[in-house]
Amino acid sequence: MLVVPRKRPAAVSGLARHTARSALTGTLRQGPDRQRFEDAVAARLDGASVAAVGSGRLALLLVLESLGIRPPATIVLAAYNASCVPNVLQAAGFRPWFVDVREDTLHLDADALPAAPPPGAEALIITHIEGSPAPVGTLAAWARRHGLAVVEDAAHALGARLDGRPVGSLGDGAIFSLGRGKHLNTLGGGLAVVRAPDAAERLSALADALPAPGAGALLKQVLLEGVIETGTAPALFGALAMPAMRLARRFGRDPMTALFEDDKSALAAIPEPMRRRLSNLQAGFGLAALPAFAEALRRRREHADALRARLGGVLSLQTPVAGAEPAWLELTALVDDRDGFQAALLARGVDTQRTWMDACDALPAFAGAASPPCPTARRVAERAVYLPTYAALTDAQREAMADVVLDVALATSPRVARRRGAA
Ligand SMILES: Cc1ncc(COP(=O)(O)O)c(C=O)c1O
Repeated sequence: MLVVPRKRPAAVSGLARHTARSALTGTLRQGPDRQRFEDAVAARLDGASVAAVGSGRLALLLVLESLGIRPPATIVLAAYNASCVPNVLQAAGFRPWFVDVREDTLHLDADALPAAPPPGAEALIITHIEGSPAPVGTLAAWARRHGLAVVEDAAHALGARLDGRPVGSLGDGAIFSLGRGKHLNTLGGGLAVVRAPDAAERLSALADALPAPGAGALLKQVLLEGVIETGTAPALFGALAMPAMRLARRFGRDPMTALFEDDKSALAAIPEPMRRRLSNLQAGFGLAALPAFAEALRRRREHADALRARLGGVLSLQTPVAGAEPAWLELTALVDDRDGFQAALLARGVDTQRTWMDACDALPAFAGAASPPCPTARRVAERAVYLPTYAALTDAQREAMADVVLDVALATSPRVARRRGAA
């Protein structure tokens, strides 16, 4: 029977071996690997300055501060977004200002940018959503015209390129996330990136003032990672998690989503364990993952391209912009009856995740934002579901999954069936 878990975290190479060695040599918290990791990433970003810290959202606050952007500045960003981003901005005293997105690319819609920036605006965040590079040229031109800094949110997009240039090197600053669900898994973490020398000096000082996580907390994370890696192996997942999730679906629940969802309440600041420098141990995981990284990205692209080729005629799938080499984190499909679609797939062995993104302008936490409503973001947030593209997916799984998705799309959406019939 087909079993496709929605996610397999990128495997951490040498998890137990590397941890044991670091513990024995006393280099769990501090050691040379952090600098090596930062240098290795910087070399891949055309020499930008990089600081490795406890999370992507902390990296964002550090980048803004390094660029001299302080609360209560207004920060312009896409409405269809990870709620944790405007949330930490707001909690830090910034004013998020939302712009609607495009339904095809899911990027901030250049046509929805206001003729004049909102009062107090100092930065535009350009999000490379789900690893698909945004059209930075057009969006950054608006920001430059109005004197705003450009910060790339490349949390989803490590390794993606636009017109041959690495994302994360296209603005004044950038962030990447090294969380469990991302391409490069260091058991949580983030990279702050800036270009100008004075900003680099400030970033380095801010990052160095952060404490490294404690050894106990690190070992707990390593243990948890072992459990997740084992639990998402298809055999075990099919035997244990799938029946439980099918049962929960009958009651309209998705326990996996509930387990990992961010707090969306008004002032959810950065959780305490994330307010850290990246530990030497975690940086070592990052370094160890770099040699195989390009191959993992290639696999993700292969999966996404194959799914787009087979399903693009019947499903609305996220479309890359011209010149983009995406680092697909997920492939987003927009479906009308999302719950019905996911339940029908799960019954046939394909586990999917509804989008983690929200129409942030519609969240109660941002009721005070002065930006106009963003109807496309709302439509997308209600319909978006992820098709898996992780590197560990086999070709056989992918093709079998595509068969099931085609069947279900035709059976559950009269609109799709009609479109097909007419073709
Ligand atoms: C678009 C986006 N930006 C930033 C972040 C923050 O990254 P982190 O979870 O490492 O803080 C996330 C988290 O998933 C995200 O999805």
